[in-house]
Amino acid sequence: MTAATKPRVVLVVGATGSVGRHVVTEAVRQGYETRALVRDAARAGKLNPAAHKIVGQLTDATTLADAVEGIDAVVFTQGSSYGDATAAESVDYGAVKNVLVALDGRPVRIALMTAIGVTRRGNSHDWKRRGERLVRASGNAYTIVRPGWFDYNDADQLEITLLQGDTRHAASPADGVVARRQIARVLVDSLASDAADHLTFELVAERGAEQADLEPVFAALDSDPVGTIDGVRDEGNMPASSEPRSVLADLSSLE
Ligand SMILES: NC(=O)c1ccc[n+]([C@@H]2O[C@H](COP(=O)([O-])OP(=O)(O)OC[C@H]3O[C@@H](n4cnc5c(N)ncnc54)[C@H](OP(=O)(O)O)[C@@H]3O)[C@@H](O)[C@H]2O)c1
Repeated sequence: MTAATKPRVVLVVGATGSVGRHVVTEAVRQGYETRALVRDAARAGKLNPAAHKIVGQLTDATTLADAVEGIDAVVFTQGSSYGDATAAESVDYGAVKNVLVALDGRPVRIALMTAIGVTRRGNSHDWKRRGERLVRASGNAYTIVRPGWFDYNDADQLEITLLQGDTRHAASPADGVVARRQIARVLVDSLASDAADHLTFELVAERGAEQADLEPVFAALDSDPVGTIDGVRDEGNMPASSEPRSVLADLSSLE
């Protein structure tokens, strides 16, 4: 992305979460006009004071008009408790759907955080993966980041390492680890990167130093093929024929 097209106003969804707080701080640090979506301003706790708190319910598109007004980019870091399928649908998936509905087709750059192992079938994973599919189908420029286990890294485990195909399914830190701060950096760095557009990757940290520039790291990856709704090399184990009708309707509403 050239400087002329670098986003200016960024909305952070899940801004009060353990990763979202780092995203807010990183977006402010990188000079973005940063908007933090909170469900209750009084309960939002401490967020970077340079960010603008905006109240809205990520589960309800009709409450998000002010949040999306004038934004150029959105970073999604929301998430429900693991194993709660209803919340996974309304929060993990719902936030993506509702922001896209509120945008009503207006283009934005998207960075979406899901999870390593997301293609291993299961309710929470499936709803996160459906959120990924909405992003790919939306026609926007995007980067989908599937982090490993948060903050399980050792102090010398900082080399940002991106994988594709989602083949690690141990459901434990054996799948890979990464610092929350680094997840936030990758999400925010992706917003102004041409090389990161249409990428889906798993994010872990290996032993070594953190790279100063992530452009070559993004550029080494394969893009998701145009017109597909899964990540490049993802296992084709979630066929449209067995998907809920509501999800298929959401996808077709984006075409
Ligand atoms: N822990 C790991 O190692 C790991 C690794 C990879 C991926 N993940 C995934 O990362 C996701 C986020 O994790 P996290 O630790 O950052 O979670 P978190 O600290 O609990 O943050 C979740 C965010 O989502 C919002 N949210 C949750 N339910 C909501 C609801 N019903 N309505 C409105 N907002 C809601 C929270 O808002 P409030 O602050 O208002 O509650 C908060 O902003 C999880 O889904 C998890 O599966 C975790």
